[in-house]
Amino acid sequence: MEKFIIHGGRKLSGDIKVNGAKNSALKVLAASLLTDQEWKISNVPQIEDIFHLIELLKSLGVEVENGSKGIYQLKAKNIKATSLKLNIAQKLKGSILIIGPLLARCGETFFPQSGGCVIGQRPRDIFLSGFEAFGAKIKESKQGYCLTTRGLKGTKFVFPLVSVTATETMILTAILAKGKTVLKNAACEPEIVSLVDFLNKCGAKIKGAGTPFIEIEGVSFLKGGQHQVMPDRIEAGSFIILGAAANSPIKVTGLNPDHLDVLWFLLDKAGVDLEIGKDFVKVKPGFKLKAVNLKTHEYPGFPTDLQAPFTVLMTQAKGISLIHETIFEGRLFYTDSLNQMGANIILCDPHRAIVHGPSKLFGRRLISPDIRAGIALVIAALIAKGESVIENVIQIDRGYEKIEDRLSKIGAGIKRI
Ligand code: EPU
Repeated sequence: MEKFIIHGGRKLSGDIKVNGAKNSALKVLAASLLTDQEWKISNVPQIEDIFHLIELLKSLGVEVENGSKGIYQLKAKNIKATSLKLNIAQKLKGSILIIGPLLARCGETFFPQSGGCVIGQRPRDIFLSGFEAFGAKIKESKQGYCLTTRGLKGTKFVFPLVSVTATETMILTAILAKGKTVLKNAACEPEIVSLVDFLNKCGAKIKGAGTPFIEIEGVSFLKGGQHQVMPDRIEAGSFIILGAAANSPIKVTGLNPDHLDVLWFLLDKAGVDLEIGKDFVKVKPGFKLKAVNLKTHEYPGFPTDLQAPFTVLMTQAKGISLIHETIFEGRLFYTDSLNQMGANIILCDPHRAIVHGPSKLFGRRLISPDIRAGIALVIAALIAKGESVIENVIQIDRGYEKIEDRLSKIGAGIKRI
């Protein structure tokens, strides 16, 4: 099992470039099943979650060529299998995205029961109701769900709560369905807008992406196309928070600052001095950190995926911060690890934590529970005194490409063993 050895407390400085967005690339690659034509997707991050999805697509018969770094050519001409393999579906919650395209192209599919995960239950009720609304028949067994259809039909579907992957899944299900689909209370994340822009270029007829109301006019086929994956706003935010926590001049490049407006607002309130350019953000050191409250919210609110890094930042701020995680019920347990490092955090309930700062952090042996808590522990270890060992780095590798090389280049004392 690989670990990170981190020597904290070093001053960081320099530029760090943001990679393509995991949560955008996954959706675009999954959508390739909608057409028998070739798609060329570039700027795909080389991370574990992408490798799992590619393995899944290949197991269904999609021809995939991985050309030069981060460029994939995909062609789903002959779909050989319609069942998702348990071992891959378990590793990748987002694998449900391919159900709609499989139903549309093949009329049947099977996906296994895969249970909850470390950040929360991750139920599938909305997906199942959605597929039924399009006319799919669902048979549930201990092993999983068997879905069949004699032809998907456009529908009106209201999401009972805002779900990113359910919105994307229903868009993908509607594209080849007969007639018109109206989705209400849809998620508005920039990754959805980027996916829809590309799908429309390939011949889909989708209006309203980026708003809670989306309309899709079914089409009979999609053509081939080329697409560059958008920059990863969560990776960008993680690096900026690192710069703020280390009070170091880090310049994050290649991002779209418009995607993180609430982060800039909160960092400003916390006293962090930033220079925000067209496609870069720079931390200007020398500020004094003040505690602010944080409440996660669907886009354009504060992303749950940046909650853990921001909590680390608050351990260095003067005062009391209330961290309110509204989206997932299992996303605050890493605070125990921060306390072992010297932080003073009270976990009030699964959704709320109170951080008393500032606290001096000390290096410890830590275990990365999931991607985002994992990067938060890396940030904590980089600002702590002494050596930390972070285990289970495969969780961090799921979302951050070669993180140790990129952080080393800005002066971090981090190596993989
Ligand atoms: N939910 C249900 N029923 C459903 C589906 C979702 O109750 O059928 C609930 C969830 O339990 C959760 C809430 O809806 O409480 C919102 O979750 P959502 O469905 O939006 O999350 P997701 O689509 O599974 C994506 C990202 C997550 C990110 C969330 C929230 C991908 C592949 N994953 O998950 O990213 O945290 O949206 O923004 O896009 C990560 O990258 O580390 C990550 C977990």
